[in-house]
Amino acid sequence: MQNTHIAIIGLGYVGLPLAVEFGKQYPTLGFDINTARLAELQQGHDSTLEVDDYELTEARHLTYSSSLDDLKACNVFIVTVPTPINEHKQPDLTPLIKASETIGKVLKQGDIVIYESTVYPGATEEDCVPVLERVSGLTFNQDFFCGYSPERINPGDKEHRVTTILKVTSGSTPEIADTVDQLYRSVITAGTYKASSIKVAEAAKVIENTQRDVNIGLINELALIFNKLGIDTEEVLKAAGTKWNFLPFRPGLVGGHCIGVDPYYLTHKAQSVGYHPEIILAGRRLNDGMGAYVASQLVKAMLKKRIHVEGARILVMGLTFKENCPDLRNTKVVNIVDELKDYGVQVDCYDPWINPEEAEHEYSISPISAPAAGEYDAIVLAVSHKQFTDMGAKQIRALGKGTHVLYDLKYILPAEASDLRL
Ligand SMILES: NC(=O)c1ccc[n+]([C@@H]2O[C@H](COP(=O)([O-])OP(=O)(O)OC[C@H]3O[C@@H](n4cnc5c(N)ncnc54)[C@H](O)[C@@H]3O)[C@@H](O)[C@H]2O)c1
Repeated sequence: MQNTHIAIIGLGYVGLPLAVEFGKQYPTLGFDINTARLAELQQGHDSTLEVDDYELTEARHLTYSSSLDDLKACNVFIVTVPTPINEHKQPDLTPLIKASETIGKVLKQGDIVIYESTVYPGATEEDCVPVLERVSGLTFNQDFFCGYSPERINPGDKEHRVTTILKVTSGSTPEIADTVDQLYRSVITAGTYKASSIKVAEAAKVIENTQRDVNIGLINELALIFNKLGIDTEEVLKAAGTKWNFLPFRPGLVGGHCIGVDPYYLTHKAQSVGYHPEIILAGRRLNDGMGAYVASQLVKAMLKKRIHVEGARILVMGLTFKENCPDLRNTKVVNIVDELKDYGVQVDCYDPWINPEEAEHEYSISPISAPAAGEYDAIVLAVSHKQFTDMGAKQIRALGKGTHVLYDLKYILPAEASDLRL
């Protein structure tokens, strides 16, 4: 495509790394409605820590704006806005529709709009394209075209980066599919896979995360069974894992705004065509119940050690939805904290990765800056941040009172070093 001028709409975990890669080669506009986010990027810092300060400077052709006037110069629009669910666990397409309205206002003949946000099959052509047509007055696949290329990055993962993950691409016509594919291939060193249609690409992304969710749900169910049987789940998984085709999933909380959310996009679409998913929703229910389960296990273990639960002090180590990143979105550690508070205990949360104001704002949790030694009746190792694995059992136990319970949710410590594991 000649004179390619790219706009990335939504500069979050997905949009920024992509904008940086395109911005090394193409004139690229990073567009976001969050002016505070734009200000930090203009000052050369990414608070999500996905792109370091030096990498930001390498994107020499990348500029930032929230102005429609700046968008007008672009001819490829890549949409990376959030796709959350509402309180009824139904897809909330508001950001996607609003971003499409924004693009519709500046769309011209020959432009291409590529969606990257995770959606259900059909969302691009059935929900977004009508908005683009209505606002622009242009005709789809005649005046303007679309693509869909899902993102596979993983917050905090420094090994699988945007350029090193093979990228699925698609387009609304065979020619546009080629154009979209070539555009991504020019920045993705791992290469691309051109799907046969936009719907196929949309479905492929949503099932990647659904498959993970269901698999973790199965392992969580196995953990509940083995706990009742008094068998260590990790030991069982290690033994079973010696078979070549046993999949290496671990039990745990399923948080974040991808794996615990995306399956609802698929189940919503399935229900809209009269199919009521069973396995997918069963996995979701199980995974969502793990916080309450962990809290009840901990309280039982405390009672067994004759620790008075009401008024006890419990330290929860790690609040993010996964290790070694500051991402607090949809973290299920909060379910453990809430559940424990219902038992009348005092919970201290410690997480060296997070922004304390964000924890306060999102969850009304005021994290402590450092735990004091010898203070706690129970300690929950909830996230395997490097800092916690580095501490080891002795240092972690030193935070507990003479009699305490140490619950290792993440198998950070050797089996014998904790009192309780998931
Ligand atoms: N985070 C991940 O690891 C990941 C991985 C793969 C796919 N995804 C998918 O990618 C999409 C984006 O996720 P994210 O994690 O980057 O979200 P995010 O919340 O980190 O960032 C989204 C950005 O979009 C901006 N935004 C919202 N509405 C806008 C609008 N109308 N116009 C312009 N900007 C707008 C927000 O201000 C924010 O900066 C979602 O669909 C998500 O499911 C995320």
